[in-house]
Amino acid sequence: MAREFLNINNMKILVLGQGGREHAIAWKLSKSNDVTEVFVCPGNAGTSLEKNVTNVDINLNNHKEIIDFVKSNQINLTIVGPEAPLVDGIVNDFRNLDLKIFGPSKEFAELEGSKVFSKNFMAKNKIMTANYKEFCDPEAALNHLSEIKYPTVIKADGLAAGKGVTICNDDLEARKAIEKVFNSNHSEKLVIEDFLVGQELSAMYICNFSGPTFEISLPWTKDYKSRDEYNSGPNTGGMGAVIHPILDEHKNIIFKLHIEIEKILTKTILNINEQLKDTNMRYLGFLYLGLMIDADNNIKLLEYNCRMGDPETQNLMIYLENMKIDFLNLILENNHEGSRDYNLDYINEKKHYSCTIVLAANGYPNSYKKDFYVDLSEVNESENLKIFHAGTVIEDGRIKSTGGRILTVNTFGLDRQKCIDLAYVNVKKIRTFIDKEFKHEDNNLTFFREDIGG
Ligand code: AMP
Ligand code: GLY
Repeated sequence: MAREFLNINNMKILVLGQGGREHAIAWKLSKSNDVTEVFVCPGNAGTSLEKNVTNVDINLNNHKEIIDFVKSNQINLTIVGPEAPLVDGIVNDFRNLDLKIFGPSKEFAELEGSKVFSKNFMAKNKIMTANYKEFCDPEAALNHLSEIKYPTVIKADGLAAGKGVTICNDDLEARKAIEKVFNSNHSEKLVIEDFLVGQELSAMYICNFSGPTFEISLPWTKDYKSRDEYNSGPNTGGMGAVIHPILDEHKNIIFKLHIEIEKILTKTILNINEQLKDTNMRYLGFLYLGLMIDADNNIKLLEYNCRMGDPETQNLMIYLENMKIDFLNLILENNHEGSRDYNLDYINEKKHYSCTIVLAANGYPNSYKKDFYVDLSEVNESENLKIFHAGTVIEDGRIKSTGGRILTVNTFGLDRQKCIDLAYVNVKKIRTFIDKEFKHEDNNLTFFREDIGG
C-alpha cells in the first residue's frame, strides 16, 4: 500500500477524545494489522477494557502535555476525535513540531467552529443552505424577529458543546434564545435562519494525504437527532444511527442525490483550499456534511463538521469491520485510482446494514442522572454485536455512568429488520443499579428511542 507520509507497520496511534466515536475509532484501529497499540486520551470505560488499547489521563486542553506524551511514547500518528481541540489549534501545534496528526488546522476547522464563517462560506460559494442573517447586536437580532416566520433556528456563532442551535416555535422562545447566546461566553454573534423540513443525512469523508478530489466517501448514515420517537422532544447529539438511510428510494433518485452531494463536497474542498491558501495548508482530516433532503429530493447543507459524527461513527465502524475494510488504510493510503465511494458500492447491490441505538441517562439532553452502575453481563458481544461506551468510567471493577449518552448498542447484518431487532433485544438486556454491589436495580435511570431504523 503506497503511503505518502508514513511507512510503518508496527504503528502506535493516539486517539484524542472520550466519547462513543473515539471508542469505535480506537477499537477499529486496534484491529488493523499495521497497528500494535492504540492510546486514547482520555478514553472511557469501554476503551480501557479493549485489548491493545490504553487510556491516557491528560486533559484535552493541555496540548503541551499531549505533545510530550506523543514524543516520549513514539506515537506515529494522532487522530483527533472531537471538534474542540481542532478549533483550539492542536493540529497547528503538532505540525509546527513536525508531528503527524490527522485533522484540519484551526483555520479550516472554522467551518465547524464558526456558524457565521460557514454560512458566509456557503453563500459565497453558492452552496444551497437555509436562508439566514448574521447578527452581532442583540437589538438588531430582536428587531429581526418581526420579519420572520416560525419555527425559526437560532445558532450561536461559536462552539457550544452541542447546545448552540435552538429551534424556536414562537417569538418568546426566539427572544430567550437570542438573550442566552449574547449572555454566554461562547459567542458574540449569532445566525437566525429558516427552519428546513425533510430527512437529514450525514455524509462523511476522509480527506487524506492523496490531495483534493481524492476524498473517500464513507457510506451515508442517518442520525436520529431528537430525543423522542417520531422527531419529537428536544434536539440531542444523536439518539441512534443507521447506514444507507435512503436505500428504499429508486436508484435514479439515489444517483441524483449522490451527484448533488458530491458537488457540495467538491465546491467545499476546492474553495476552502483556495480561500485559505495563504496558510500553506489544505483540508486534511474528516469532513462531515450535515444535509437536509426535502420531499422533492432537493438538498440543502445544514452544517459542516470537521470530525466524524457521533453516533454515526459507531454505526460505521461495526459496518467497516464486518465488510473487512481497514479504516487506517483509508486514512493513510494514497494509491487509489480516483476517489473511492462506498455509497456506489451499495447502489451496486451490497445490501448490508448496521444499526446503532444510544442508551442515554434519564434527563438527557438536559441535566441527567449519573453515578449509577451498568451491568452488561447479559449482552454477548459477537462479530454482529458490539457495545461502544461514551459516558462511562471504571470504578472498583464496575462500569459507572458519568455522561448523558452512556453507550451505544451496534449491530450488523444482511437483513435489515433482523439487525434492528438484534440491537433492541440487546439494549433491553442492559441492567442498571444504584449500588456497585448490584443489589438495588433501578429501571428508571436510562432510556432509548424505540423507533431507530424506522
Ligand atoms: P447544526 O449544528 O447547524 O447542524 O445544527 C444541529 C441540528 O439542528 C441539525 O442536525 C438539525 O437537526 C437541526 N437544524 C439545524 N439547522 C436547521 C434548520 N435550518 N432547519 C431545521 N433543523 C435544523
Ligand atoms: N450526530 C451528529 C454530530 O455528530 O454532529
